[in-house]
Order: sequence, then structure tokens, then C-alpha cells
Amino acid sequence: MLEIKGINVFYGAIQALNDVSINVQKGEIVAIIGSNGAGKSTLLRTISGLLRPRTGSITFKDQDICACPPDEIVRRGISHSPEGRRIFTNMTVHENLQLGAFTRKDGDVANDMEKVLQRFPRLRERFKQNAGTMSGGEQQMLAIGRALMSRPEILLLDEPSLGLAPNLVTEIFNIVLDLNKEGGTILIVEQNANRALEIAHRAYVLETGNIVLSDTGKALLANPKVKEAYLGG
Ligand SMILES: Nc1ncnc2c1ncn2[C@@H]1O[C@H](COP(=O)(O)OP(=O)(O)O)[C@@H](O)[C@H]1O
Ligand SMILES: [Mg+2]
Repeated sequence: MLEIKGINVFYGAIQALNDVSINVQKGEIVAIIGSNGAGKSTLLRTISGLLRPRTGSITFKDQDICACPPDEIVRRGISHSPEGRRIFTNMTVHENLQLGAFTRKDGDVANDMEKVLQRFPRLRERFKQNAGTMSGGEQQMLAIGRALMSRPEILLLDEPSLGLAPNLVTEIFNIVLDLNKEGGTILIVEQNANRALEIAHRAYVLETGNIVLSDTGKALLANPKVKEAYLGG
């Protein structure tokens, strides 16, 4: 579904991704794990069209999307829930969710909003409230709900568990599993390697801009190198 081949991405003179190749098949949960600064967010931003690879290719459903602007990439079916959630804190939950559907012209938005509110009952409780008044976990749910409002074929999740208490982390990962059980395709990047590898069909390890390992989530959980570097020994 999504195929990235040999991309090199720079911030000015600094290279953030070096010859990175990954793929995601329909119906998979694929995880990218790696330390702070490894290039995980850069990879998702490049897929979303916020950054351009200097070389290499990105194809989605067999079409090159490298030259597409970000809104066109959303229209084609890729939705990004960014690191740090990036919700509009002075707008209501309702308005934030509506913004997630900005690329759509079909008449089915209300229906999808109802589905998001069924999935996240707390967003329904807070529907008319300013998003900034909500807890971190609720804001993360809003960020995911907003991303779902574009009706994505693949959902990109950047560190959805960051800064959340363990019970909320479990809740968020269960939501990711539910979305996948319903047929959703998910590319998730996480510093929380343990949790991400537990739910991922396949995963890649990113170290200072390079993919150094890739395998099933299960195999990486048992891999001694991964254990030592990312799972606390
Ligand atoms: N806007 C930017 N300008 C310059 N360098 C950046 C910028 N954003 C990230 N970087 C650098 O690119 C590298 C990868 O960052 P990032 O993709 O955010 O890593 P991660 O998400 O894995 O923590 C880091 O060395 C970081 O300092
Ligand atoms: Mg990041």
C-alpha cells in the first residue's frame, strides 16, 4: 500500500534520514521504534508531504506522491496524527473534529463524526468544550479522532503514548488495535518500544536516520540487541 524506497531527507545541511526504505501493506500495523532524535517524526512528516525527500521515492497505492502537497496527500487517503497532538486548544472538540474533514466534499461527514464520538465517548462529553481544557489523554484521543475524520486508508501516528499515564497508554494502544481489527492500516512511531512491538505485525528500528533492523514485532521483542537498547535490558 505504502512503499518508501531509499529516501534521503535533510534539514538544510543536516541529513535526518539516510537511504530509508520501508513498506506498509493493507491491514497491517507497522511500527517504527527508535530513540529521541532518530528521525521518526521526520519520516512521518515526509510521508505527509510536509518535507520533501532529496532523493528516493514514496508511492501510495502504486502512485508516486513525492510531489503532492500535504492536502492532496490527505485526499488520497493518508492521515497524520502528529507528535505533541497539535490540536487547536482555543477551539472546541467539535471544531477540531470538523477541521479533520477539511479535505472532504462528500455529505457523510456527520456520520463519521458520530462514529468517532462512539469510539471516544469522552469526546462526546466534552464536545462543546475548548480542547485546551482537556487532559493529555483526552487531547490524544482528539488528535486521533481528528485524523480519522478524513476517512484515511492509512493512519500515521506519531508517539501517541508520549507523556500519558500507563492506564491511558493501554487505552490508546487498545484503540489502535480496535482500528486495525476493523480493517485499518496503521504506521505508528514510538519511543515506547515495548508497547509498540507488542501490537505491531512488523516493525523497523531507526537509529540516527538509518533503518538498522526490521522483523515481526514478536521477533524484535525477543531480539537481544533490541532488548538491550530499547526495552531496558
Ligand atoms: N526543523 C528542524 N530543523 C533542523 N533539524 C531538525 C528539525 N527537526 C528535526 N531535526 C533534527 O533531525 C533529527 C531527527 O529528528 P526527529 O525526526 O524529530 O526525530 P524523532 O522523531 O525520532 O525524535 C534530529 O537530529 C533533529 O535534531
Ligand atoms: Mg519525534
